[in-house]
Amino acid sequence: MNLFDKFSSEHSIFKNEVILMPDYLPTDILHRETEIKEIVSSINVLIHGRKGENLFLIGNPGTGKTCCSKYILTELEQHTQRILPIYINCWEHSSRFVILGLIASELDMLIPRRGISVDEVTEKIVEGFNKSLYKGIVVVLDEIDRLFVSKTGDKEVLYDLSRSKENLGVNISIIAISNNRDILAKLDNRIRSSLNPRSLEFKSYDSIALKNILSNRAKLAFYPNILDEEVIPLCAAIGLNHKGDARIAINALWKAAKDAEKKGEDKVKIENVQNIKNSLKTEEEIKKELGKPLDYSIFNDNEKRILKILKKNKEIENIVLYKKLKLTENEKRNVRNILDKFEKLKIIMIKNEGKKRIITFSR
Ligand SMILES: Nc1ncnc2c1ncn2[C@@H]1O[C@H](COP(=O)(O)OP(=O)(O)OP(=O)(O)O)[C@@H](O)[C@H]1O
Ligand SMILES: [Mg+2]
Repeated sequence: MNLFDKFSSEHSIFKNEVILMPDYLPTDILHRETEIKEIVSSINVLIHGRKGENLFLIGNPGTGKTCCSKYILTELEQHTQRILPIYINCWEHSSRFVILGLIASELDMLIPRRGISVDEVTEKIVEGFNKSLYKGIVVVLDEIDRLFVSKTGDKEVLYDLSRSKENLGVNISIIAISNNRDILAKLDNRIRSSLNPRSLEFKSYDSIALKNILSNRAKLAFYPNILDEEVIPLCAAIGLNHKGDARIAINALWKAAKDAEKKGEDKVKIENVQNIKNSLKTEEEIKKELGKPLDYSIFNDNEKRILKILKKNKEIENIVLYKKLKLTENEKRNVRNILDKFEKLKIIMIKNEGKKRIITFSR
């Protein structure tokens, strides 16, 4: 019997596991109406052609700073083509040159990787902006702490961007994000007074907020009646113990469901949550983990089989993968969900080329 013949019955717990992945972007954000309204109103200034205000979003881990700002950028893009929304995670792109280069390339300017100075990249930004129909740019700089690690002046990018209207005629609003309340104090006066951001605190979630966030996510991730009544309150309590961290609460729910799935159970019970309680990871640990060899124990047999093929081939077209797995149409949908999950875990990259999907193994 083909391994996939029993696939549907084996996978009766998750309707869509991707909903519980660390970087899944919810379309329904709860308990952050005030913060979202504040951010939107400050971006609105830019839409009306005035100098944009800079914001500093501060709050403990897992309080929704990243998901709210990404959500707002998506909405902004749908609302107007006159403002360019750019999201940059400084953990991934921490140099002044790279950040300016990313902005230039979002303005459709080609930037060679070498042999070009910061001033030249800045000129490209001006050229790209003037050629475009944009009235302004919103740049989200997430996890700005990273800009303060090097001594090479990467935080100078905050000055470049905050003076860009006066110096270059490019109207930019910066939304800087951090966990560290004191980070701005490390800036010299010149940068701090140019940036001059309005602080917006993301307060830690309480138990009700965490329960609501979890219930909403669970409705999309699981088939009905899969979770025992006590599971969500217990996962919320775990999040609460970690200073109201929604990421940890969601991660607890996912791991508990994986524990149940691995044991062949068809319901997630309080015991499953207790089993995984000690294995929960913070964002920092998850990130460190991404740099380490893969921990195959978190995958089921079907996932392991797909991973083996992907690892062997390095680059493979989805159709070829389906052929190797000898899949029926129904099973292909399940494999597509698994591939989405691998992509979110940054194990693979998927590139769309017309109707083709090229999968590259990136670990
Ligand atoms: N209000 C919310 N509604 C729905 N999901 C949320 C909400 N807040 C956070 N989440 C979910 O919790 C997880 C963590 O949120 P997010 O990444 O935005 O936190 P963060 O404040 O940026 O944390 P960090 O400071 O560690 O980067 C994500 O999976 C996110 O989708
Ligand atoms: Mg974040």
